[in-house]
Amino acid sequence: MTNVYLPPSIRHFDPLRMVFSTWVDHIPFGYDIVAAVRPKMLVELGTHNGMSYFTFCQSMKENDIDGVCYAVDTFEGDVHSDKYDESVFTSVSNHNRQNYFGFSYVLRMLFEEALRHFDNETIDLLHIDGLHTYEAVSEDFANWYPKVRPGGIILFHDVMARLQDFGAWKFWEELRGKHETFTFNHGFGLGVLRKPGGDRSQDSELIKLLFDNPSDERAAKLRAFYVHAGRHLENMRKVKRMNNAPKPVEG
Ligand SMILES: C[S@@+](CC[C@H](N)C(=O)[O-])C[C@H]1O[C@@H](n2cnc3c(N)ncnc32)[C@H](O)[C@@H]1O
Repeated sequence: MTNVYLPPSIRHFDPLRMVFSTWVDHIPFGYDIVAAVRPKMLVELGTHNGMSYFTFCQSMKENDIDGVCYAVDTFEGDVHSDKYDESVFTSVSNHNRQNYFGFSYVLRMLFEEALRHFDNETIDLLHIDGLHTYEAVSEDFANWYPKVRPGGIILFHDVMARLQDFGAWKFWEELRGKHETFTFNHGFGLGVLRKPGGDRSQDSELIKLLFDNPSDERAAKLRAFYVHAGRHLENMRKVKRMNNAPKPVEG
């Protein structure tokens, strides 16, 4: 990187939604990729408490992006996230209504059922984060890939997680051989895939950094940048918590 890369997550991102999730390591990138793609349509498969989804929505709102977002989930959980209770859906719905009314919609249904609501080649940014077995991730990709527009971006979470029967890592290794991709290794790993086609002349700085044949050195710098961006955000939040803590009473 010859120029200084100073994306919106560094300049002005203060997460409104902080919940337990292994996605937390990637929220600066999640915020920036939305600002970079400026999606007219964003779809997430697998929302749970909304860590990733509300990061995307916050970026849509704060970066004045005129688009719609859909969160698809049964809000029942699965064998990896475990089953959870109704309070999760209630909390996600309330946060959505209070902060993103008018452009963000929660579709409480199976991914397979949601397919019919989307035309082919209409999604600009798709995030696949449902069940993480090899079979489930490959099926989600096969079902939803046609819905993504040429040049669109697909994110995959957990591409580095090698626990239980997780198989996203294996499917991601196969995709890397066949598609234009970029991999973040930190946390549980985040894969970024670009569908061929589209108008590349309008590519934003981040998309160029990811996909314009980065040298190994430039790719390593971008990875390091987002490791530090995650830590920076966490440190800023600690400082804020300390500043907001009640002062000890003297005397
Ligand atoms: C790993 S969690 C999502 C994590 C979330 N993106 C975050 O930022 O923390 C996976 C979610 O996918 C949902 N899920 C898994 N398979 C599904 C399917 N076939 N249809 C609908 N929801 C599904 C589960 O209910 C669960 O809430």
